[in-house]
Amino acid sequence: MSSNNRIGILGAGRAGTAIARAAARAGVDVQIASTRSPSQMRYHLLQYAPHAEAVYAPQIGTGVELVVLAVPQEDLDDVDPEWFNTRILVDATNRWEEEPLPEWFTAGLRSGLSSSEVIAQQFPNAQVVKALNHISHWAMDAPRSDDARAAAVSSDSPEAAQEVAELVRVLGFQPVVADSLSAGQHTEPGTTYFNVAATSEQLSQQLI
Ligand SMILES: NC(=O)c1ccc[n+]([C@@H]2O[C@H](COP(=O)([O-])OP(=O)(O)OC[C@H]3O[C@@H](n4cnc5c(N)ncnc54)[C@H](OP(=O)(O)O)[C@@H]3O)[C@@H](O)[C@H]2O)c1
Repeated sequence: MSSNNRIGILGAGRAGTAIARAAARAGVDVQIASTRSPSQMRYHLLQYAPHAEAVYAPQIGTGVELVVLAVPQEDLDDVDPEWFNTRILVDATNRWEEEPLPEWFTAGLRSGLSSSEVIAQQFPNAQVVKALNHISHWAMDAPRSDDARAAAVSSDSPEAAQEVAELVRVLGFQPVVADSLSAGQHTEPGTTYFNVAATSEQLSQQLI
């Protein structure tokens, strides 16, 4: 969790705005960016993330320690790694079989890396943590108090994972931490608990 209780979100679509709404409910400040200027986004945000502050995409890492990446993987060629001079990048993206990918992404996957490991290579300035990708925007907006609300947090950095686990908790989920970034591939589309409610125990077993 950012020390100044403020996070950035790159991508203001279904995932990005749902995370922004959940953060606002929890009292976390959000700056959000998309391909559009703050002015072009104003009516969209009024409806979908009224408490978020719109910024230009290159400014998404300014003044925050943690940025959530909520941009489709096919669009990542247009995301400049220099924007992620922030400490932690939360990879909330998913690998969809039918989605075309930038060449570097396909090459990374072919070499045997998970999609988050490829993203970590592309954004070397940040510690990458895979999280929030398997929670649908519907579930993000539907807080529940039972245990079937676990969310995976996978990273090669234990410190970064703990900070993201705190964010996940604040957003209303029970974090289940896996000690490798590659473990996040067990929460991608086609896996058992993708967009499916899971208990901490169920998710822990899935992440092994
Ligand atoms: N939908 C869900 O429930 C959900 C939940 C968790 C994770 N995810 C994952 O999150 C990713 C995004 O999904 P989504 O459903 O939110 O997609 P979406 O509704 O299509 O929104 C995509 C957002 O990314 C922005 N974007 C595209 N290229 C960009 C760039 N170069 N720089 C900055 N912003 C850019 C778009 O900007 P504009 O608005 O300007 O077009 C749009 O705001 C996917 O990998 C998805 O699998 C989705």
